[in-house]
Amino acid sequence: MEGPASIRPGKARSYRLEYAQVRQRNALMFNAAPIQAASKSELYDELAEQARGLLHGERDRIANAANFAALVYHALPDLNWAGFYFYDGVELVVGPFQGKPACVRIALGKGVCGTAATTRQTQVVADVDAFPGHIPCDSASRSEVVVPLFDGERLIGVWDVDSPRLARFDESDRAGMERLAGIFVESLRAA
Ligand code: SME
Repeated sequence: MEGPASIRPGKARSYRLEYAQVRQRNALMFNAAPIQAASKSELYDELAEQARGLLHGERDRIANAANFAALVYHALPDLNWAGFYFYDGVELVVGPFQGKPACVRIALGKGVCGTAATTRQTQVVADVDAFPGHIPCDSASRSEVVVPLFDGERLIGVWDVDSPRLARFDESDRAGMERLAGIFVESLRAA
């Protein structure tokens, strides 16, 4: 008679694989040396490498979004919110994030997030109070960067990062965030 699924040889092998991946992720999250970067672009280089390692071998969107948001939020200074809004076919709906609770739904074209989604352009906002239609979620936010996420022509959502510091994000943050967001989108496709 066949034994329970958990002790069948094939299953045991795949569980061992899972544990190895979990150990690898834990090592990354809890034991990795703090990033020692000489410049912002080096910081993003290292962060990109960590993001690739963290998402490697996993395609689940919620799992990858949650770990990705946690990685970035804890690696970069002066952030008060980092997370996703996903397109549900009608509007943007909040996804995994780090920071205070946020507004749940954002219409396309509204706020910084909706603008990034409809223009397909990353929005770097030096002063959120000067952005027409900015949607305040955490009153501490002073500046913001939002990267639209597309799989080819298909809108997936946006990656949104807020800072309590005015003009926290510059052109190297734009490039770095776009690169990181690309690693997230790629992780959903990878075999
Ligand atoms: N400020 C965003 C809303 C999302 S929160 O920042 C988390 C916007 O204007 O779209």
